[in-house]
Amino acid sequence: MKLEVIILAAGQGTRMRSELPKVLHPLASRPLLAHVLETARTLAPLRMHVVVGHGAEQVKEALDAPDITWVLQAEQLGTGHAVLQAMPQVDSDSTVLVLYGDVPLLKPETLAQLTEQAPALLTADLDDPGGYGRVLRDDSGQLQGVVEHKDATEQQRVIAEINTGVLAYPAALLKDYLPRVGNANAQGEYYLPDVLSMAVEAGHCVAALRADSADEVMGINDRSQLAEAETLYRAQQAQALMAAGVSLADPARIDVRGTLECGRDVFIDVNCVFEGRVVLEDGVTVGPNCVLRHCRVGAGSTVHAMSHIDEAELADGCSVGPYARLRSGTHLATGARIGNFVETKKTTIGAGSKVNHLSYVGDATLGKGVNVGAGTITCNYDGINKHPTKLGDEVFIGSNSTLVAPLDVGDGGFVAAGSTVTREIPGDTLAVSRAKQRNIEGWKTPKQRAAADADQ
Ligand code: UD1
Ligand code: CA
Repeated sequence: MKLEVIILAAGQGTRMRSELPKVLHPLASRPLLAHVLETARTLAPLRMHVVVGHGAEQVKEALDAPDITWVLQAEQLGTGHAVLQAMPQVDSDSTVLVLYGDVPLLKPETLAQLTEQAPALLTADLDDPGGYGRVLRDDSGQLQGVVEHKDATEQQRVIAEINTGVLAYPAALLKDYLPRVGNANAQGEYYLPDVLSMAVEAGHCVAALRADSADEVMGINDRSQLAEAETLYRAQQAQALMAAGVSLADPARIDVRGTLECGRDVFIDVNCVFEGRVVLEDGVTVGPNCVLRHCRVGAGSTVHAMSHIDEAELADGCSVGPYARLRSGTHLATGARIGNFVETKKTTIGAGSKVNHLSYVGDATLGKGVNVGAGTITCNYDGINKHPTKLGDEVFIGSNSTLVAPLDVGDGGFVAAGSTVTREIPGDTLAVSRAKQRNIEGWKTPKQRAAADADQ
């Protein structure tokens, strides 16, 4: 089947009370429309037409992709009018799937099922159908059409089955019917669902497929619905992770705002946020309140509480945190350890090396078995340029050292605690760079001196 998707996204979204066009409001960090496009792509359509109007330029800029055909609907005259604008670019022998840019939780399976039955309408039973178009069926249950809430009689308003707006239709029928749809109704709009009754009158049988749950077809009109969708989305992601063998301390307290790929026996504690593409290999443990973004964590590694990892790669058996911040370009080799209040950036930490407490390590390369003592700082920035620090294998940096880059420390080099190092240290050499200790005997503190003065 040749499939073309038309996504309606020209409306203003008044109830969001926002400068941002509605379809650009984020759900799990991505625009609503991006979710709809992603779902549509799984059906491998020939083309995707997105009808834009309000904030058209902004929407195009935010989401432009080579597989999108943009259609401008300068004036929002109704859903029928919106679809009509896209029809000149649609092949007559295709099936058209109409989606809304503000209905982001649809499942690909539902859409695939619907398109197979075209002409077909996706409906749902709602506890509170107020405001929606109601589905009209005849005595045998055959779909007759849709009546908008504003045009409906009291009797029709009792109907719980609503039009979700999603519809699969042969393009040829749309090309035939849409130009003939009128706007003599309560809202003076060209209604897309009018094509349903037109098809029925012409003797076609139009399928009406009920969605499994009302959640899937929910539309976002205001910020409260947006938050509700976020909760539903979060729950979906959590369910999928658990089904794939991941243990979650609390499925209600995890946010996956991108793709999270997990191996076997991964454990994720509460309140973790995953953004972009994150991979957790077998047996990884993530402690509570961590944020992981665009990173890979190797098998058996542990990320302890309150850590922030962004654009980093961790090999197997690493340990990070609690309270660690790994910034972009951080690479940890097997068994490396980063402890509390340590920040790393553009740094490679060799196998089994440790930076355990209160340090900043930037633009650095550490060999194997290196130990960086508490409070060590690489001074990598002179205000204009960044300079590298290179520590060979088995280097030992004493606590509270300042390593002024560019700096090279050879294998087995040793820096005495409290040193400020500005020159290269050859291998197997001790560098001490601090004032020599003086002990002043009989020293009186100012308090002791003041007491002595008062006695006189
Ligand atoms: C529409 C349906 C209604 C259905 C409901 C489901 C019609 C006439 N009514 O009503 O039966 O129950 O959706 O949510 O179709 N849009 C455009 N251009 C326009 C008008 C709308 O692009 O000229 C877009 C909007 O941006 C939105 C979608 O179409 O994404 C639906 O429009 P909206 O005004 O929300 O339709 P409803 O009145 O809710
Ligand atoms: Ca709506």
